[in-house]
Amino acid sequence: MIRFYILVILFALLMAFSFAQADSQKGREVFLQNKCDTCHYPDTVSLGPTLGKIAETYTYKGNKARLIRFLNGQEKPIVFPDKFESVMEAFLGNTKLLTPEQREDLADYIMSHEGIRSK
Ligand code: HEC
Repeated sequence: MIRFYILVILFALLMAFSFAQADSQKGREVFLQNKCDTCHYPDTVSLGPTLGKIAETYTYKGNKARLIRFLNGQEKPIVFPDKFESVMEAFLGNTKLLTPEQREDLADYIMSHEGIRSK
């Protein structure tokens, strides 16, 4: 009987894990559809900061909820605030048009890069 419970628990954990993956996978699609990858790579600095850097900043200085509000134009930038107005601000026009669910998936995708260091 104990074996059965262990199996049930393992199955539940597996399901929870695959749902979490699905969100950041959907977020990756939103990221690519909106051409965010023109300026943001996982680990290589481009016109914009790396996804690793953004995830790290939002882990220590903010949180996912704040990132979602940033993507909805409701919070000030915290990664490179001095570079915000010239480049990034215009792209919030795209992210503000997303559904709340898509914005959350996008934030999940960005946060999934925590721990990825820049080259
Ligand atoms: C033309 C280049 C460019 C594109 C395209 C671009 N970004 Fe950015 N992004 C930047 C720059 C530069 C910064 C640094 C300024 C800043 O921190 O806001 C930045 C910063 C960010 C930040 C950190 C905000 C903070 O708190 O400072 C997030 C999150 C972000 N971008 C998400 C996105 C998403 C999502 C998209 C696609 C909709 C996107 N970016 C498209 C250039 C770009």
